[in-house]
Amino acid sequence: MSADVRSFFGRPIVIGGGIAGLMTALHLAPEPVLVLSRTLLGADTASTWAQGGLAASMGNDDNPALHLADTIAAGDGLCDRRMAKRILQAAPGAIEGLARLRIPFDRTANGSLRLGLEAAHSRRRIVHAHGDGSGREIMRALIAAVRSTPSIVVVEGVEARRLAVSDNAIRGVWASCSLGSVFFATRRIVLATGGIGGLFLDSTNPSGNCGQGLALAARAGAVLSDLEFIQFHPTALDGSERPMTLISEAVRGEGAALIDETGRPFLECVPGAELAARDVLARAVWNHLANGHRVFLDARQRPGSEFARQFPTIASACRGAGINPARDLIPVRPAQHYHMGGVAVDRSGRTSVNGLWACGEVASTGLHGANRLASNSLTEAVVCARWVAESVARTPARRTKSACGDEYPSPDPIPVRPSLSPALGIVRNGAGLKAAIRALMPIAESKHAAADPAAVGLMIAIAALRREESRGAHYRTDFPHQAPEARRSEITLEAALEAARELAHSPALAGLTS
Ligand code: SIN
Repeated sequence: MSADVRSFFGRPIVIGGGIAGLMTALHLAPEPVLVLSRTLLGADTASTWAQGGLAASMGNDDNPALHLADTIAAGDGLCDRRMAKRILQAAPGAIEGLARLRIPFDRTANGSLRLGLEAAHSRRRIVHAHGDGSGREIMRALIAAVRSTPSIVVVEGVEARRLAVSDNAIRGVWASCSLGSVFFATRRIVLATGGIGGLFLDSTNPSGNCGQGLALAARAGAVLSDLEFIQFHPTALDGSERPMTLISEAVRGEGAALIDETGRPFLECVPGAELAARDVLARAVWNHLANGHRVFLDARQRPGSEFARQFPTIASACRGAGINPARDLIPVRPAQHYHMGGVAVDRSGRTSVNGLWACGEVASTGLHGANRLASNSLTEAVVCARWVAESVARTPARRTKSACGDEYPSPDPIPVRPSLSPALGIVRNGAGLKAAIRALMPIAESKHAAADPAAVGLMIAIAALRREESRGAHYRTDFPHQAPEARRSEITLEAALEAARELAHSPALAGLTS
């Protein structure tokens, strides 16, 4: 193993085998690149599970300026306008690039793309493949392309545990596999590790996605941005299964309605109703549940008998729960779904640590602001992967030495879920956030397997505590109004630990009961 590893020294390394990671590797070709994947490619990745597709202004009635306006409105004042404009302008070209990889995008009888509608989009602009199987179809094509590209080596079953950094520059990565711990020496690493759903009790993400990339970057000293903005999807299938099954927004886009146990369409007072921005709708559903109701998606009229043809993946999951959406109501509740915040990156995906890039959900480009517009994230991953690869390719591959390191345990998010989930949910308040900080702090500083998940949770909780306003997906009952000025947030692990220590000594926190 060690001889094999040495032959890879100096190659850029992509950590993560989802859409962002594989697209980055493909764009780097013919430069040799190593992809480290925690699982077998395509297994247990949020990319494969994605039901929504890629948002891009491909329709005759659409253009990037309209897409930008919708993105900025949904982002509630916090989008980086220049970055959003750049990404959304590149989106149609990126879709055409994917089509060349033979992804079977859904098309109309005349061969043009069949464009779907999702919440807060003013136009039909969601490109799907096999209806709600978009992620699976895209991943199938990308995996085939990667496997047939000789310059890409994929190592599966290897988990990155710590980045080696000196003088704020990457020197390599310690990883773990069935044979033990291994060090890959390199000065160029791309994080493409996905999101944080595994930190929550109720999420639509694979449970193994517990913020590994955020922990790697934070422990390397990187700056993270907008961590407090976590998106909850309004309609996950309300059952005992975890992770929860997503009932795509596209179902509402095709006419399904939200009603309660009395049959009442309770969104009458919500502007945009079923197609309101996701933060607004998730709160409305949450409040209705909190008031003692049950909430159902009624797809019996629309899409009705077309449901199974249009949404085969969801229909099959519903069948597993004994529900026929053409005939029965689908019980739903909100669940954690996406992280708007991430490792702060510039327009080329570079982080604040030299030689470290981030791409996809783990990165914070500024596109999503305080609330992501549906299906903008796969688009962002595909578009930004090219810019990241170009930047990596421009960075000289200088030699670096091997290193010894500690054994780091595989991250275990289970102990952090009970304190983190209620505090960082749809509705937050200062007391709840402080209680979570107090619970997470000792774990984050320990050598426990939950230390990294706790460190990520701690940074999010401190960012949420510092944001004394309500904006987008961050809603605080003790600060229900929006501040006059929108400002993005930044944090490092060191600053979060310092803030947590200060809080631990403040009378306000000492007086809290858990
Ligand atoms: C959905 O299909 O509702 C989810 C799409 C997304 O999260 O972008």
